[in-house]
Amino acid sequence: MGRFKGRSILVGVTGGIAAYKAAELVRSFVKEGAGVQVVMTAGARQFITPLTLQVLSEQPVATDLFDLGLESQIGHIQLARAAHLVVVAPATANVLAKAAAGVADDYLTTVLLATTAPVLFCPAMNSRMYEHAVTRRNIEALRQVGYFVLEPDAGFLACHEEGAGRLPDSEVILEAASRLLTRPTLKGRRVLVSAGPTWEPLDPVRFITNPSSGKMGFAVARMAARRSADVTLVSGPSALRDPPGIATVRVRTAREMEQAILERAPGMDVVIMTAAVGDYRPADVAPQKIKKGAVELTLQLVRNPDILASLGRSRPPGAGQVLVGFAAETENLLENAREKLIQKNLDLIVANNLTESGAGFGADTNRVKIMDRTGAVEELPILSKDEVAGRILDRVESILA
Ligand code: CTP
Repeated sequence: MGRFKGRSILVGVTGGIAAYKAAELVRSFVKEGAGVQVVMTAGARQFITPLTLQVLSEQPVATDLFDLGLESQIGHIQLARAAHLVVVAPATANVLAKAAAGVADDYLTTVLLATTAPVLFCPAMNSRMYEHAVTRRNIEALRQVGYFVLEPDAGFLACHEEGAGRLPDSEVILEAASRLLTRPTLKGRRVLVSAGPTWEPLDPVRFITNPSSGKMGFAVARMAARRSADVTLVSGPSALRDPPGIATVRVRTAREMEQAILERAPGMDVVIMTAAVGDYRPADVAPQKIKKGAVELTLQLVRNPDILASLGRSRPPGAGQVLVGFAAETENLLENAREKLIQKNLDLIVANNLTESGAGFGADTNRVKIMDRTGAVEELPILSKDEVAGRILDRVESILA
């Protein structure tokens, strides 16, 4: 909530069938605290009424360059200047072509020339129009002069064809917008994040796991990507969707996670292990479903590898890789965390007490203490997991510096 607080976003809507999705997009921006000014082209008004977007944006919609009323109140140059970000969604092949050529024959294209804010185009159109060499060339030209162009989704299109050309979900557009509004303090840095629980199978239909949702690790990955890091996320089973723009590797067991992490870790500037890795697995996995018997069943468990400990052991001294672990505890929080920090050779450990309210598994908030190698402890209040992720990354950045 509130990730666009204090930000002015100008949403340009052009005339494609996906214009109806602009309503939800505008609503999402407003819900997240943005001040939204909508500009519609004449084509867009054939698909959705200005009234709809005016109600959702809580502001008059600009539709015509020569609307004397609006022009005398704000004016297109002023609108262009006030925006922290311009998002054109949906962007038709036509508006891409006009923007690439510098044509300014209506309100939106005039604003596009007049603004110095970052501009994000979200193309949506028939897949053949999108794949057309001229459209590809226009997109390339837009990128070359510093515009951002989001890839459309592939799938079933309104024209009953399959292909690339769908407007991505609002959340994907919001995430791309967040990136453009965030200082790129991790640009050029490679960050590996682990998340979620692991599944340790007993038989083909049962496994041992824990209640980790993956939310903390996904938040760390998302926030690092917002700061322009090159992020890889290795996640155990989680109901969360792959975060947009992040290479996501799905694994199930601790040993699969170990392999995925160890093979990627050497090239990384930062490794952050938020995953709740199962410490034990059943010694034998039954090939068929275990049938119940008359008496109790005893399981023998064997130790899983400690992934973080091997990362700590194998990281080359002086190579500058920053290693961050989590400590999930129910008692003696700081003592146990300190021991893990030393034993696993970490730079930072993020300790949370799973028994505290507002902390731990499944919640959208967390309450943590961050300890460094000197033993100094930074105690954070209850924060959203996104905010906790941001605070961890602040500490990582100061170590990298
Ligand atoms: N971890 C890991 N591999 C394991 C177990 C834990 O990489 N097999 C990592 C976790 O991702 C976390 C840190 O080690 O970053 C600490 O995990 P935690 O479960 O708190 O502690 P353990 O080391 O497993 O110790 P214990 O369960 O005895 O508290």
